[in-house]
Amino acid sequence: MSGLFLKNPNWPNLLTLKQITENSQSQYGISLISLNFAPTFKPTNIIIMAGNRTFTMIKPDAFEAGNSGAILKMIEEAGFKIVAMKATRLTPELAGKFYEVHKARPFYADLCNYMSSGPIIAAILEKDNAVEDFRTLIGATNPANAAEGTIRKIFAKSIEANAVHGSDSDENAKIEGDFYFSQLERVL
Ligand code: CMP
Repeated sequence: MSGLFLKNPNWPNLLTLKQITENSQSQYGISLISLNFAPTFKPTNIIIMAGNRTFTMIKPDAFEAGNSGAILKMIEEAGFKIVAMKATRLTPELAGKFYEVHKARPFYADLCNYMSSGPIIAAILEKDNAVEDFRTLIGATNPANAAEGTIRKIFAKSIEANAVHGSDSDENAKIEGDFYFSQLERVL
């Protein structure tokens, strides 16, 4: 069954459990679409699909510098479809909620102040293997370490004012998209 699914050109991102478990840091959200508990069950019979949506914010530094259009152009040219998008501004409280996972980090307070310091653009993006491909497109968190040609290398000012946010997992992509957008605000 796994061979059949993996060869199907309509489902290019199907992964076997073996592929997932070989990478303990896997960022694939798990959508179980085929599970065979027959006596011949083997872990490789479990098929898992990498998600096709991610979430991004164009941060206050890039918005203020007038780089939103150039960044969105790079995103579309890399094959991402914009499923939802809005310009908005976070309060410090909302920024704190969005980045709650970093609450214990020394940069948390500064990050919340910075993210509420000006307008941002929030967007849900669609592409096969969206989370991983988008993180490749934007580059490392610290622009000093970002690869040439990545969005952060080109536009980011510092590790905090790093131009764009990109979700780090399928699970967080959904949580973060839901933080900003209702069903009515996105292309289904
Ligand atoms: P982002 O991808 O939005 O996720 C968390 C953010 O915290 C990150 O981008 C940076 O803006 C910020 N951040 C991460 N590490 C540091 C750090 N060491 N100092 C300051 N800000 C940081």
